[in-house]
Amino acid sequence: MRKRLYLIKIFLFIFVLQSHQILFSQNSTAQEYAYKNEVVSSANEIASEVGVKIMQNGGNAIDAVVGTAFVLAVVYPQAGNIGGGGFFTARLADGREVSVDFRETAPMKSLRDMYLDSLGNVIPDLSTYGHLASGVPGSVAGLLYILETYGTKARAEVLSYAINLAENGFHINGELANALNEYQEDFLKYSVSDNIFGKKYSSGDLLIQTELANTLKAISEKGRDGFYKGWVADKIISEMNRGKGIISYDDLMDYKCIDRNVIKGTYRGYDLITMGPPSSGGICLLYLLNIIEKFDIQKLGFTDENYINLLAEAMKLVYADRSEFMGDMDFVKVPVSTLISKEYANDRMKYFQFGVSRNSTDVKSGNIFHESNQTTHISTADSKGNLVSLTTTLNDVFGSKTAVEGAGFLLNNEMDDFSVKPGVPNIFGLVGNSANAIEPGKRMLSSMTPVIITKNGKPFLVIGSPGGGKIITSVFQSILNIIDFKMELDAAIDAPRIHHQWLPDVLQLENKRLTKKTIKKLSDIGYKVKSVHDFGRVEGIIFDDAGNMKGHSDRRGYGKAVGF
Ligand code: DON
Repeated sequence: MRKRLYLIKIFLFIFVLQSHQILFSQNSTAQEYAYKNEVVSSANEIASEVGVKIMQNGGNAIDAVVGTAFVLAVVYPQAGNIGGGGFFTARLADGREVSVDFRETAPMKSLRDMYLDSLGNVIPDLSTYGHLASGVPGSVAGLLYILETYGTKARAEVLSYAINLAENGFHINGELANALNEYQEDFLKYSVSDNIFGKKYSSGDLLIQTELANTLKAISEKGRDGFYKGWVADKIISEMNRGKGIISYDDLMDYKCIDRNVIKGTYRGYDLITMGPPSSGGICLLYLLNIIEKFDIQKLGFTDENYINLLAEAMKLVYADRSEFMGDMDFVKVPVSTLISKEYANDRMKYFQFGVSRNSTDVKSGNIFHESNQTTHISTADSKGNLVSLTTTLNDVFGSKTAVEGAGFLLNNEMDDFSVKPGVPNIFGLVGNSANAIEPGKRMLSSMTPVIITKNGKPFLVIGSPGGGKIITSVFQSILNIIDFKMELDAAIDAPRIHHQWLPDVLQLENKRLTKKTIKKLSDIGYKVKSVHDFGRVEGIIFDDAGNMKGHSDRRGYGKAVGF
């Protein structure tokens, strides 16, 4: 009898936990802060290990991030790249806060309506596949600049790991094998031959990339001139000629990465630095945090419909402004200081009421959801106090699916991040306007959100993610989970997320986030709820008060945080 009572009590206890929906959100492993010296969190274990090795050999977190990024171009070609671009945000050991924009640029021959037919309709696939989809790549210029300016190691040493892995091969994991097989038809359609990725793969196969190794050697020997001039540039231009692309020698030679001022904000006593335009990521993140700061979300509860209601309404406002105001500040005026001010956030929320879902406008959205996660983020930190957050991308999985023949690397399809026509959604369903229209030499608006958070001047969190338009909300919710809901790093990153981007007017929920009852309540107040696959692959490093670190690579990916 006593045993039965005991079982009933346990059953009731579990039922109460379930009904409060807190079981899954607290299943963290409460890892120790095991690392005193360095941590690298990236989308691939081999790449993270290289980063740690570089630091063990005396390098700093900047050397590590550059070495890791070049290795990702070899072992994670879905997103790691030399044919794409990205953003670097860092807090250096001497206290400087810096960011570098190595985003792709529109070729000088590009035109505002280059993806429209004579009737003004968008030509399918033109901004996403093939030669015309590529912006001028920025990764090589950016990574080398970062290394020369903030690193300590020689280029040849930092690149040697990537060269070795390309030349001698590495055993591919199941994720890469599946991805290569899935996109094989596209490679054969858009790349000249099957000499890059043109066969069926199985997990464990040895992947040797001789052409890529030669390109990396040219970069190692000649620096940026090994890519933007010489035989690699010749190969890029021949590839453009073959596929009616418009990137020219001048575009390559003139490509510049740009030092940008970090944008700064605060949230509940924490200090944040992040990336400004041409990324929308930093602005949107600070704007969201400013909105949420006014609410006691811990009291609302992680899975409460009022909390989801609040997040969704905040996201709608922020993404509506993203669409209207944000673009490359070298071409358009972006009202950054207003957008990241607490007053503006307050003002925008004045119509907010719990239990009410405001309609997004009726602009037709196309209802496109893109679920890939093929951008990639690297977080690195060292014991000297250097903190680095770097996000890089080809845009879509394997970019434009176009490999540069003879040079062994894929080109991005970043042109699709421009607003190819006002109000027409890009592959992530994001709409834009004239602020993000195509202009020669302009950089397309991004959502990449590399972030560094400190508390009282001490390192606290290095974080970032892929996920297209969902990058911002993935990083945002991970931060709320840590600061407000006091979750451990792994639980905070792994917890199911929600997403609303104003248009389409849909509340997207990762599976298992909410009970049917809560979803019904949200539908009852007007949300069009859609269940979506996992999104975002957050890479994070967190510090305790004594400066010890631990890292976590999102359960949604196959990456790993490695430390020492
Ligand atoms: O810069 C951007 O916002 C996009 N090109 C990022 C693409 C991305 O995250 C792909 N993964 N879903």
